[in-house]
Amino acid sequence: MLAEAASRVPRFVDHREGDVPDGRWKALALHGLGSDKTLGFEAYGVPEAGQADAYQWTDAADLCPATTAYVKSTFPEAQFGRVRLMLLRPGGRVPFHADYSERKLASISIALNHPAGCRFLYRDRGVVHEVPFADGRAFAVNLSYEHSVVNDSRVDRFHLIVHVLRGNAQFRELFLRSFSLYGDPREDVNGQRPVSG
Ligand SMILES: [Fe+2]
Repeated sequence: MLAEAASRVPRFVDHREGDVPDGRWKALALHGLGSDKTLGFEAYGVPEAGQADAYQWTDAADLCPATTAYVKSTFPEAQFGRVRLMLLRPGGRVPFHADYSERKLASISIALNHPAGCRFLYRDRGVVHEVPFADGRAFAVNLSYEHSVVNDSRVDRFHLIVHVLRGNAQFRELFLRSFSLYGDPREDVNGQRPVSG
């Protein structure tokens, strides 16, 4: 999937370029309102009640068959929201921001790669933590916490973000089993510690 994503970089579009200049944050929607529609439904005038019907597999899904097959087989019969490949180029810094006002686990982020020098940080009550992403690791990150992503490596960083609007029994089982195994990374996994006060 990493090679597939890297081969499609010319199809990626700038994502939230007001926050991250110089084209260092890019995205490609495999499922959504269009391959170049990388923001949420609100940005395109689609009512929340209509989003499930509006989202479809895009032409980019055909260009990324291995990734699309992975998503469909991992979450079969799920109703997907956006499914996007996200690219943070070397030197890219996504400033701290919160995506939601209410606490929720709205998406799953899968690191196709996570080179040394890349960090996914979030801030909770003034303390900054790092989500322990690594090549191939996936997390459901609560993006209502302020978070920031930096790429201080020399290579492109690709993550796959999957929004499941309605999961099936297999999805719920996968989610609950993962949570029971790994839970909140602050509490233990990989010796996770706050990275600054
Ligand atoms: Fe975000």
